[in-house]
Amino acid sequence: MRSTISKYVTAFAVLASSVSFAQAADVEVLHWWTSGGEAAALNVLKKDLEGQGIGWQDMPVAGGGGTQAMTVLRARVTSGNAPTAVQMLGFDITDWAKEGALANLNDVASAEGWDKVVPEALQKFSKYDGQWVAAPVNVHSTNWVWANKKILDDLGIEQPKTWDELVAAMQKVKDSGKTAVAHGGQPWQDATIFDAVVMATGGPEFYQKAFIDLDKEALGSDTMKEAFDRMTVIRSFVDDNFSGRDWNLASAMVINDEAAFQFMGDWAKGEFLKAGKKPDEDFLCFRFPGTQEQVTFNSDQFAMFKQGDTPSEEQKALAKAIMAPSFQSAFNVVKGSVPARTDVPDTDFDACGKKGMKDLAAASESGNLFGSMAHGHANPASVKNAMYDVITAQFNGEYDSETAVQELVSAVDLAQ
Ligand code: BGC
Repeated sequence: MRSTISKYVTAFAVLASSVSFAQAADVEVLHWWTSGGEAAALNVLKKDLEGQGIGWQDMPVAGGGGTQAMTVLRARVTSGNAPTAVQMLGFDITDWAKEGALANLNDVASAEGWDKVVPEALQKFSKYDGQWVAAPVNVHSTNWVWANKKILDDLGIEQPKTWDELVAAMQKVKDSGKTAVAHGGQPWQDATIFDAVVMATGGPEFYQKAFIDLDKEALGSDTMKEAFDRMTVIRSFVDDNFSGRDWNLASAMVINDEAAFQFMGDWAKGEFLKAGKKPDEDFLCFRFPGTQEQVTFNSDQFAMFKQGDTPSEEQKALAKAIMAPSFQSAFNVVKGSVPARTDVPDTDFDACGKKGMKDLAAASESGNLFGSMAHGHANPASVKNAMYDVITAQFNGEYDSETAVQELVSAVDLAQ
């Protein structure tokens, strides 16, 4: 009896290990979704694929904004070991497509009618040379403020609508002994704030000229200097321990009533939700003062690395799953972003999500939708990283605003 059972157990173990081996080989996904809120959203994708019998091999690379993930990706590809699928932003997709590394997803895109439902602003990055090379999972935007409602109420602070009102609000919080701005001093986080500050300071035409067209005059202008001056003001409202802090730990300061504001993309909402906080009750979401009409967006897309002449069945299934309307709703409700498809109803989204969807549609309609400089949607990584260096050096007081403007012009020039 015993030996019969053990035979069964052995047989089962062999079967189980071969199944899990087969599954493990299915899709290996490289991503940087490692915070609590991000992991919860990723789980929605994992579960969805699991339900379809597609195995998941996780390749997380910590580090917000994906800087480290892109370094790991380069190393993997160079050593001839590219992952099956990779989370990517904007111009990084284009750069890899230019190298001929990405699988052509046209078959699944045309079978699923992606052309009709993915907005032009995203298609610009999902396609290379007219061919689909990535499946967009969401649209995030960077010009948001996440605020602690209790602190604002206790101090009688109204939602700031202008730069001056924001400065007055930050001052009031600082005077009360709390931290006004929860921030993590990492280049991509400094740059995320700069997205909003430049938009608020110079307006949409200026943002376009400076960050997207890389117009020298705009980059070297007094308006840019004023934007840097405003960064110095914000710097005076962060706490002493801001240097190197991860973005989700900065979110936690707002969540835990330690800080009043975080200027961050809407992935921050994922952290508030994960902590059981509710929009309008515990926290407020609003556009960075002076950018109420604009949206500086970034979209997480999944590109499939070539494994043969055509994408594998698993790669196609992953791409199809990512673009399914029900998945786009379920995933983005948790992630804090909004769907990449225009035909997904906002029914399941909370107040911030509904606002995000409305803002995106309105900005796109009125010509106020711009790719985020900080998140790879304004220029290729070479230019983005050159900007990061200057923004961070200025934020940390290594450059005054005048020097920063000059450095920005020359760094961008050299990077092109
Ligand atoms: C990505 C988000 C991510 C955030 C922080 C952004 O670049 O688009 O999905 O949550 O970085 O890691």
